[in-house]
Amino acid sequence: MKIDCIAAFLLFLFVLPAHEGAISGVGDDSDLWSKCNCPGSDPNYVAPQDRPPSARMAYLISVHNRRTIQDGAHLLKALIETSTPGDTAIILIHVDRRVGIASRESTMPNEDEKNQFLYHDSWMRRYVDACLAVPACTRSGGAGDINATILEVHTHFSPEWSRWSMNDPTLWAMEYLTHHRILSRARGSQSWDVFVNLSGDTLPVITAERISQLFEPKHGPLGNTNFVTSASCVTGLLPTSIFDFPEHTMKRSHYFSRGTPKTMSYLDEGGNWQLDVEMPIYFGSQWMALTHNFVEYVVRSLSHPNGMGSVLKASLLKTEVQMTDETFFPTILMNSPAFNETIPKLNDEGALERYPSMHSLRYERMDENNPNAWGEWTSSDPLYDITTEFGIETDGEGPAKPWGPYFLGVYDLGSIRDHGALFVRKVSWTVDSNLVRMLPVRRSNNREEGKLEWDELPDMRWPELGVKIRDPFVKAKKKGEKEKEVKTNNDVGDDDEV
Ligand SMILES: *[C@@H]1O[C@H](CO)[C@@H](O)[C@H](O)[C@H]1NC(C)=O
Ligand SMILES: *[C@@H]1O[C@H](CO)[C@@H](O)[C@H](O)[C@H]1NC(C)=O
Ligand SMILES: *[C@@H]1O[C@H](CO)[C@@H](O)[C@H](O)[C@H]1NC(C)=O
Repeated sequence: MKIDCIAAFLLFLFVLPAHEGAISGVGDDSDLWSKCNCPGSDPNYVAPQDRPPSARMAYLISVHNRRTIQDGAHLLKALIETSTPGDTAIILIHVDRRVGIASRESTMPNEDEKNQFLYHDSWMRRYVDACLAVPACTRSGGAGDINATILEVHTHFSPEWSRWSMNDPTLWAMEYLTHHRILSRARGSQSWDVFVNLSGDTLPVITAERISQLFEPKHGPLGNTNFVTSASCVTGLLPTSIFDFPEHTMKRSHYFSRGTPKTMSYLDEGGNWQLDVEMPIYFGSQWMALTHNFVEYVVRSLSHPNGMGSVLKASLLKTEVQMTDETFFPTILMNSPAFNETIPKLNDEGALERYPSMHSLRYERMDENNPNAWGEWTSSDPLYDITTEFGIETDGEGPAKPWGPYFLGVYDLGSIRDHGALFVRKVSWTVDSNLVRMLPVRRSNNREEGKLEWDELPDMRWPELGVKIRDPFVKAKKKGEKEKEVKTNNDVGDDDEV
């Protein structure tokens, strides 16, 4: 039996890379994930002179299942390989606790835990290991180039959809960033400026280097601004007060019917009691880019038992409202006099005044309120239908929720262009790898005046009369291969059960 197990293990090791080669489409000999090609690791790299100033970014990437771990590898690679040394201070990866993170090297397979090696077997793990081995790309434990990115993988929480626990990874990351010794403000240029939380199936539209330049605190058009929402929110880039939702709409009535208090009392930063102050709830959406000051402020307001953060959290938990992940941060931001003016300034078209090509920071297609609170349908259809093969590949993941967010593909490029977004979600290798291959885009070398990265994107849109793609014949051939692979994997599974 033992020999069976070892045989199965070897077989699995043998099968896996081929399988990955097949779905990643890069052929057998070139492997995307075994090399960390950050710019600093190139022996010929010389730090560019007169580079525009940039913000030091702190990213949190959350992944929660087989698919998002694989997609997250593309996101991680894009961030690491397009940021110039000094642009990205830290990347934290949070792996949902329900995902198995056991190492094959040190753990006996457990037949009750089908997913125990999910992380270990993933592209992401291989790529993280490859990056940790290159001191010019990453610095671990304080060693390495001071401009190299700190890269860490953690697993602490298993957030439940629509519950308070959705906030846990974000809050954990904020505390981590606030207390990290190397990233401490006292170390000046080594600290970080902007915190951005992302899900694994997100991709940057432009390079990490450019994102970091846009956020530069002093002069960057996105500098010193707190974004707690992207444009899928009905008020675009600005948080929506609960009083702005028409009566009887879902979000408004849910919070009111739960008896959310109109006022709250808390101890402010100056140590003064603010008694019974009005504290309207604000909604945002699940995309945030926050300044260092605001993150520290939130952390402090939660660490004091009577701070605004603690009081608001207690109230949200007590009234058992849902969607607190969409309300907690926007509500603190909008009710804090020191920060409520740091929200983005918009022009008449709802775009960013200082960067008018930008209508949302993260583009996604969703129809949250189905139809939305103003009676309009922003989009009402996943458009990219999920096939049976998707379910097999993703370990049984089902289609998107009826209101989205929906998967994106190359037909969405036109909208991504229109929105001028920094990031897009949901982008998955499993659904349309074409889009994954195209992003991020760079500005062309022969720069025309005023031409930005988004202008480099092909202007592709959904055909007006719809489009029906048949299973292409290539796929049919591949299917045969897939069946073989699936079968081999099943064999491994069977052996494990012996
Ligand atoms: C780190 O980056 C900063 C800003 O880009 C640069 O001025 C400095 O020379 C770099 N330090 C090292 C050791 O490369
Ligand atoms: C970012 O943080 C917010 C607040 O905790 C959360 O609702 C959201 O899901 C996070 N977004 C991503 C993409 O992880
Ligand atoms: C910020 O708060 C102050 C004081 O409560 C208020 O006067 C001001 O209108 C607020 N600004 C915004 C943009 O909401």
